[in-house]
Amino acid sequence: MTESGWCCKCCFKFIITAGFAALFLWLSLRTRKPKCSIESFYIPALNQSLNSSSNSTTLYFDLRLKNQNKDKSVYYDTIYLNFTLLDEARRPVGNLTVPGFHQGRDKKALRKESVEARGVDWKAVSRNGSTIVRLDLATAVRYKILLWKTKRENLRLGTEIKVNGQGLKDNPHGITLNSGAAMPGGSLVRVIWSFWVFVWWKFL
Ligand SMILES: *[C@@H]1O[C@H](CO)[C@@H](O)[C@H](O)[C@H]1NC(C)=O
Ligand SMILES: *[C@@H]1O[C@H](CO)[C@@H](O)[C@H](O)[C@H]1NC(C)=O
Ligand SMILES: *[C@@H]1O[C@H](CO)[C@@H](O)[C@H](O)[C@H]1NC(C)=O
Ligand SMILES: *[C@@H]1O[C@H](CO)[C@@H](O)[C@H](O)[C@H]1NC(C)=O
Ligand SMILES: *[C@@H]1O[C@H](CO)[C@@H](O)[C@H](O)[C@H]1NC(C)=O
Ligand SMILES: *[C@@H]1O[C@H](CO)[C@@H](O)[C@H](O)[C@H]1NC(C)=O
Repeated sequence: MTESGWCCKCCFKFIITAGFAALFLWLSLRTRKPKCSIESFYIPALNQSLNSSSNSTTLYFDLRLKNQNKDKSVYYDTIYLNFTLLDEARRPVGNLTVPGFHQGRDKKALRKESVEARGVDWKAVSRNGSTIVRLDLATAVRYKILLWKTKRENLRLGTEIKVNGQGLKDNPHGITLNSGAAMPGGSLVRVIWSFWVFVWWKFL
């Protein structure tokens, strides 16, 4: 066998090995962000059938947090929630913090919360018909991979919730909070992976 033939074979083997190593590394380090959704939402002040002396300004909701990783647990930092009434003034109506916690692999959590919505004339809002409330969520998460934890990764999500004349969210299903922004990947693993794909197409 010529020297160049041996070199070529060796090079081929190296590329294949490096490629699989990168693939397995990528598969084991890849993380998926938690999925957050609003499962129920109720503003008694907007329930038009409730004509009693109810002057409650409380806003009730269930926040669902799902760890989408089957082999990594998630550490949540304190979760900040802001509610904004989307009328012309876009008034902030309430803030809430949910304490951080550790969530096991592939687990989900339901947080039943309520917030006192101040400074809003709910009677006037109710008379106006449908209402839209915006929810913004901010936290940071770390993932535990085997024995070590990743760096903090910011999680900023939001959604708009349409509220009907019963004071309930219009959508009967859970409302998933989304980020609007693309996933900020940019990890070294991704670079190695792209390089390997490039080499694969170019030379094999
Ligand atoms: C709205 O008020 C009515 C009358 O009290 C009550 O029957 C109904 O359950 C309330 N709606 C919700 C979603 O709680
Ligand atoms: C308020 O509720 C009572 C029964 O609880 C009902 O008789 C009355 O008609 C209601 N009023 C309005 C304005 O809906
Ligand atoms: C709500 O109603 C209670 C009694 O029904 C009253 O004492 C209280 O002042 C009211 N609150 C507001 C903000 O109107
Ligand atoms: C929400 O929090 C900010 C900053 O802590 C505060 O300025 C604002 O008044 C709060 N809004 C409501 C509606 O509580
Ligand atoms: C009611 O709707 C009108 C028109 O959309 C808007 O100008 C007004 O600010 C609303 N009022 C309340 C209390 O939401
Ligand atoms: C909530 O509102 C406060 C004050 O307006 C702001 O500093 C914070 O970034 C907001 N949080 C979210 C999650 O939007």
